[in-house]
Amino acid sequence: MHEGDRLQKVLAAAGLGSRRVCENMIEDERVTVNGEVAVLGRRVDPETDRIEVDGLRVPVRPGLVTYLLNKPRGVVSTASDPQGRPTVVQLVPAEPRVFPVGRLDTDTEGLLLLTNDGDLAHRLTHPSFGVDKEYLAEVDGSPTPAQLRRLREGVELDDGMTAPAKASLVAPGAVRLVIHEGRNRQVRRMCEAIGHPVRRLVRTRIGPLADRRLKPGEWRVLDTDEVRSLEAAALPRTTFEA
Ligand code: URA
Repeated sequence: MHEGDRLQKVLAAAGLGSRRVCENMIEDERVTVNGEVAVLGRRVDPETDRIEVDGLRVPVRPGLVTYLLNKPRGVVSTASDPQGRPTVVQLVPAEPRVFPVGRLDTDTEGLLLLTNDGDLAHRLTHPSFGVDKEYLAEVDGSPTPAQLRRLREGVELDDGMTAPAKASLVAPGAVRLVIHEGRNRQVRRMCEAIGHPVRRLVRTRIGPLADRRLKPGEWRVLDTDEVRSLEAAALPRTTFEA
C-alpha cells in the first residue's frame, strides 16, 4: 500500500516554507488533514487528503516544485557540464529532479528558476510569452544619456535589432536594464554595442520575483502565490509589444 509522503514534505513542496518551518506549523497544531489536527510524521496523499493550514486549504500541486536560486558566478546553468564545473542543479535538492528555466551565462550571477513544472518552464522561456527580466550591469566607463537612449530604443546586434528595453544609470558605471527577450548573452552584447563592455552582470528580477535576501548559492521554494504571479506575468505578448 502507498503510505504517502510526510506532511511536512508536502507542505514544504507546496511552498509554505522550509521543512523546519512546516514542522513547526504542525507542532503548533495549525495543520489539519481531513479535518483532524495532524501530528508530526503523519503521512498524507496530496491527491486525496484535504490538507488545511489555519483553516485554509493548501493548494498542493503534487510533485511540482519551483526553486528560486541566486546563482553564484562560475556555476553553469546546465544540468551537467563536460568540463566538470559546478552546476546550478547541484545547488538545489536532488529530489525531485528539476531543470533550469532558461540560462544565465557562467559569469553571470543572480536569480534563476529551477523547476520540474514543464508547463511553467515553457511559458517562461517561449519567446511569444516572455516575462521582464531585470539586470544590474557594471560596465566599463559610464554610458551617456544618448547611449542609454540607444539601449532603450533598440540596438543592432548581429542577430538583429533588440526590442525596446528599459535602461537607466543607477550609479556611475552601473546600468539597470530590463529586457523581455532571452537572446544569448544579450545584455553583454547590448552594452558592448554602445561601447561599454560588462564587467559584472547580476540578474535582480524575473517578472514579479526579486529577493534581496537570497545570498549567492542560496535558494528557496516558491510559494503558490508566487508561482501564480509568475504564470500571470507570462501572458502571451501581443504583436504591438514585441
Ligand atoms: N544577458 C547576458 O548577457 N547574460 C546573461 O547571463 C543573461 C542575460
